[in-house]
Amino acid sequence: MYDSEVAEIWDAIYTGRGRDYGAEARDVAELIRKLRPDADSLLDVACGTGEHLRHFRGLFGHVEGVELSGDMIAVGRQRSPSLPLHQGDMRSFDLGRRFDAVTCLFSSIGHMRTTAELNAAIGRLAAHVGPGGIVVVEPWWFPDTFADGYVTGDVVRSGERVIGRVSHSRREGDVSRVSAHFTVAEPEAGLRHFTEELLITLFTREQYEDAFRTAGGTVEHLPQGPAGRGMFVGVFS
Ligand SMILES: C[S@@+](CC[C@H](N)C(=O)[O-])C[C@H]1O[C@@H](n2cnc3c(N)ncnc32)[C@H](O)[C@@H]1O
Repeated sequence: MYDSEVAEIWDAIYTGRGRDYGAEARDVAELIRKLRPDADSLLDVACGTGEHLRHFRGLFGHVEGVELSGDMIAVGRQRSPSLPLHQGDMRSFDLGRRFDAVTCLFSSIGHMRTTAELNAAIGRLAAHVGPGGIVVVEPWWFPDTFADGYVTGDVVRSGERVIGRVSHSRREGDVSRVSAHFTVAEPEAGLRHFTEELLITLFTREQYEDAFRTAGGTVEHLPQGPAGRGMFVGVFS
């Protein structure tokens, strides 16, 4: 999951299909500052290649990232060697310091497989904010908003490379199986193809809210959010 083949093309495919990491970072910063005007430090958990962090860095005095995939981190470090990226698992990481805000974006939280894992992850996010700290989590679809059988695809150009991604999402109980096929065409190397299979849990809104409350926070659900999947915003005292 999120190995070198995917890591290498991640930013190209998502920015190429229209994601604006800069605008998303600004919106999240605005959300945080509404509740915590003096917020100056931010930790992004499951930060991928650190693309949001590259923008958060201009909006906060101090930023760091945590990410499970060594390959995603390697790409992030290559692009921004000065960005502090830590390898860690959101269910168990401990950086030994606290931040004014912690984020977990683009539905990365959906990689938790059970409510026990969800609670553990929200607990670790909460443990990394100080008093009055803000935790922002962008969830995956809920069971009643997930579109079973959803298909999509994009072809993007990145320098001399052309990348195609076609995906199909299917519901299997309380989990969605997202199957993606990638094709990369390069002038010298030619064509290559690989696939990725992700299981992303369809937690309910109540399960997310319970996890925030169990971790000791208040929580609000905002229906909008960058990908239309909403946003949970928690405040921890
Ligand atoms: C959908 S990607 C989002 C990446 C990035 N936040 C973005 O917006 O581009 C999900 C990320 O979660 C990471 N991830 C999955 N399970 C994780 C875990 N248990 N702890 C930390 N990161 C995890 C993956 O390696 C991947 O980089």
